[in-house]
Amino acid sequence: MSAGELPPPLAGLEPTLPSRWYRSAQVFALEKERIFCREWVCVAREEELAAPGDYRVLDVLGESIILLRNRAGELRAFYNTCRHRGSRLCREGAASGNDHVPAAVNDSLPAAGNDRAPPLPGGIAGGRITCPYHQWSYDLDGRLLAAPHLGSETGFDKALFSLYPAGLECWGGFVFLNLTPAKAVPLGEQLGEIPARIARYPLRELRIGHSIRYEVAANWKVLCENYNECYHCGGVHPELCAVVPAFREHGSAGLDWSRGVPHRQGAYTFTASGTTRRRAFPTLNEDERVRHKGELVYPNLFLSLACDHAAVFILLPRSATHTSIVCHFLFEPYELARGDFDPSDATTFWDLVNRQDWAICEAVQQGISARVHERGWYAPMEDFNLDIRRYVLERIGDVPET
Ligand SMILES: [Fe+2]
Repeated sequence: MSAGELPPPLAGLEPTLPSRWYRSAQVFALEKERIFCREWVCVAREEELAAPGDYRVLDVLGESIILLRNRAGELRAFYNTCRHRGSRLCREGAASGNDHVPAAVNDSLPAAGNDRAPPLPGGIAGGRITCPYHQWSYDLDGRLLAAPHLGSETGFDKALFSLYPAGLECWGGFVFLNLTPAKAVPLGEQLGEIPARIARYPLRELRIGHSIRYEVAANWKVLCENYNECYHCGGVHPELCAVVPAFREHGSAGLDWSRGVPHRQGAYTFTASGTTRRRAFPTLNEDERVRHKGELVYPNLFLSLACDHAAVFILLPRSATHTSIVCHFLFEPYELARGDFDPSDATTFWDLVNRQDWAICEAVQQGISARVHERGWYAPMEDFNLDIRRYVLERIGDVPET
């Protein structure tokens, strides 16, 4: 029997994945290969690389990736590996053009000892990527420009040594990568009905007004499952439920996410008061001006949509038991340009709710490690999580039971 075979429901509750799947390095390695290196994963907002030559070095489940904007202004992504002898090309965590984003948001986790390493030649400068080892240099489209002392007279052909590309597509101002581009389906196919469901929110036009990075000692699936149910809201989020009483009524059963979840009378956004000085996005319909919508974009992007701002969460799994989360708060450029722009009514409230969520997710991660807890159970109002269970099972359901 593989560990992916589920027991029958118990007293009306559906079984979760085995607890081991939330803490096993073996399962995490399978998830890396079959989910995060096969599907489109969100890594950034387009605006974070504003100008030609801007770049960032990303850590995508241990794969180092250079994300850059080329001379023509197009985004490109490459594995951070020289085609010659395989040296890392860039060792910096980030560079350029992101003054409005706190530095900590852009830092990919440094490799052990990296901060003590001596500076090396090479990296990205002057419109080229130069390897620090033998100074092979590439253009910003990944083509090998020059390899010192190797000419065509020796039969050397530069065209055969372009950088390894990653697939790159954008939607809603988000940058998605596919680390196995030869097998990638179009991003739109993966996104399915999501763009249509939230088409009136001007995601592509919104810009980052504030960012927070969180480090959470929990498996990425624990975080997804928590995002996908409000059964916990009554106990964990009293302040949120004061603004959105529907989250605690009847254990949050029957929430109408397609029309949007209503706030209490007189409230219309995710702030402590339920109100704000910012205008609603002009393109929203009547419901969307007073209700809240959310989407989980598999495998690593959460969207929480208020009438005047979006809170978006990019999950970066680091190990079976640790996930980094970059939370951006997006606003209309119209609001950002105002002299009295102040996002703190939304960001302070969200930070409280976020910390409540991460704390309870860490408690789950600790609790499911108990030797007696083979698996958990989903209550009926948590049935969106059956979709996460299906998503993971379809991809790694043949993991051997060890
Ligand atoms: Fe929550």
